[in-house]
Amino acid sequence: MRQAGVFPCIIIVVMTMDKEAIKKRIEDLRKELNYHNYRYYVLDNPVISDAEYDRKFAELKKLEDENPEFFDENSPTQKVGGKPLDKFEKVEHTIPMLSLDDVFSEQELREFDLRIKRTLMLSKDEDIAYSAEPKFDGLSICLIYKDGRLYNASTRGDGYVGEDVTQNIRTIKNLPLELIVDNPPAYIDVQGEVILRKSDFWKMNKEREKENLPVFVNPRNAAAGSIRQLDPKKAAIRNLTIFTYYIRAIEWHKSPVSQSESLDFLKMLGFPVSPLNRLCKNIEEAIEYKKYIAEVRNSLEYEIDGMVLKVDKFAYQDRLGSTTKSPRWAIAFKFPAEQVTTKILDIVVNVGRTGILTPVAILKPVNVGGATVSRASLHTLDEIRKKDIRVGDTVFVQRAGDVIPEVVKSVKEKRTGHERIFNMPTKCPVCSSNIVKDGAYYRCTNINCPAVIKESIKHFVSRDAMDIEGLGSSIIDQLIDKSIIRDVSDIYRLDKNTLSNLERLGDKSASNIMQAIEKSKGTTFAKFIMALGIRGVGKYVAKLLADHFGDLEHLKRADKEELLSIDGVGEEIANSVLSFFSEKRNLDTINNLMKLGVFFKDEQNKEGGFLLNPNVENKSFVFTGSLSIPRSRAQDEVLKRGGIVKNSVGPNLDYLVVGDKPGSKLDKAKKLGINIINEEEFIKLIKWQVH
Ligand code: IVH
Repeated sequence: MRQAGVFPCIIIVVMTMDKEAIKKRIEDLRKELNYHNYRYYVLDNPVISDAEYDRKFAELKKLEDENPEFFDENSPTQKVGGKPLDKFEKVEHTIPMLSLDDVFSEQELREFDLRIKRTLMLSKDEDIAYSAEPKFDGLSICLIYKDGRLYNASTRGDGYVGEDVTQNIRTIKNLPLELIVDNPPAYIDVQGEVILRKSDFWKMNKEREKENLPVFVNPRNAAAGSIRQLDPKKAAIRNLTIFTYYIRAIEWHKSPVSQSESLDFLKMLGFPVSPLNRLCKNIEEAIEYKKYIAEVRNSLEYEIDGMVLKVDKFAYQDRLGSTTKSPRWAIAFKFPAEQVTTKILDIVVNVGRTGILTPVAILKPVNVGGATVSRASLHTLDEIRKKDIRVGDTVFVQRAGDVIPEVVKSVKEKRTGHERIFNMPTKCPVCSSNIVKDGAYYRCTNINCPAVIKESIKHFVSRDAMDIEGLGSSIIDQLIDKSIIRDVSDIYRLDKNTLSNLERLGDKSASNIMQAIEKSKGTTFAKFIMALGIRGVGKYVAKLLADHFGDLEHLKRADKEELLSIDGVGEEIANSVLSFFSEKRNLDTINNLMKLGVFFKDEQNKEGGFLLNPNVENKSFVFTGSLSIPRSRAQDEVLKRGGIVKNSVGPNLDYLVVGDKPGSKLDKAKKLGINIINEEEFIKLIKWQVH
């Protein structure tokens, strides 16, 4: 018996030794393959043949298959995608993901340069160096690495909350899952753009056509669709690529001091960085660079839609800061819209959210800048007359970025005499009510016009408004056609049964929608204002109003003078806000929404104080260490009060907020004599009632 007991022990010892050797071989192969991926994808300079790479890859794959206990999600063999997901989790961005202001001319680029110099109090003749980069036309992604390993990847979303797409991002071949340096930063948050090569895009669409699936209109949509694919294996075969271009945050003993240094640093860590980036010593060089990339644009394997300029020195960037929307130290130059000719087959009339009738040209489908266009807005009847556009005309069509395509002009020489002059209908094409002329616009007089209700509900549920996922166009159409909902508050009276009885809606989707409706009840004041659909009040004006008034009661009681005192609110918007709140119907809807459980997560100072706070307005804050409240919330509170959130400590910083286990920022702030405050002092300073 004892003998028998000893025997298996010996085997275990032998196996452990073997396993040790196998483990070591697996680790070596992973390291080697990672290095060769880096040589291939990042440096574009491989040092082994494809066949040799494939041999090593096959050896690793075999060892991993035979020894599943050594599985590592970061292994180079794992780029084929893991298990499918049910849904994407939401991710709150610790630092908001800002967008960039756009310009379209060289003059605006020079004005940007002058503005920078003025703000920095430099003379006009001094040179500001810019990091000039291609503007990739893809999908913005935030990548977080902890101790050199990919920890999380998320989409931009609304800038504050995105979606966790780590599983799909893992499948991108040129993205390192582990950084290749021996001592990687403990934490690095990098922004990049996921793109699809033009050739892969055409190939993918051809296959979709064969399978009778709808084709994607351009590579950007195709890349976005692939990243929002729940099955990572399907995302993997799309062959996505990524370029990184910005370090959002880093914990490192020696951080880069400029954008150009950051780009070199990213490359050194193993990230793919565009070889087209260039450091320009002044704005004129940057303008030359723009001409250069415009020339090479068509020969590139992927789409770019302009140039991004970033003030190179971080010391300057810190002094310039950011608005809630975009950094003041960067600008995007967009290439002029591409124009092509096609034929107008018909002109139809669309009724929008505000009852306005918009003539829309139905075009012979045509490819404009990589997208197939078959409809284009003609804006107003006056525009149609001014441009002398007729049904049957050959016209120039243009599309700039995300903007709805538009008809630029007609080609008179191509007329045959059979063209038809368009006239506005006298009755609403949806509800046959009378039409009135309102300035340049024609409007349906029926406040209950189904088109108006449909469009306002679509607006209400959209992402920047109440963000009710799953309540799409066709469901809303059915709900209104069946008179189940008559105004936005009816959404909160829906039940699962009603939903699951609709066409093309299963039980599971119905409960998902019910959940989304429930979740949407806790919104922010700004999103709620946006959702109301007040004419002229989009996402940014809604935020201005929310920040200024702080709560609904103040906003409802606002007078014209106060509205006009807000920077960014003009006569037209002020009038439209006043007229919105003077209508009983709108006030009733708001009351109903509140009664049905809508509330503002961020509402402050119930006693009636305003959110804007002179302690915070235009003051800059950096956070270090962990706070008892989520850092993103603290940052949001600063932004809401008109403050500025920065990532790094510079001489012009106003406050460093220090939590538990602060990083190197604390030492730097001490050296520079910056105000250092703890969490309690911060909460007092900004007058935040944390619930
Ligand atoms: S920098 C805080 N650099 O353009 C600055 N953005 O219109 C963050 N983009 O949201 C952005 N190429 O998705 C930067 N070289 C580049 C870019 C780039 C494309 C995208 C990005 C951004 C959008 C703004």
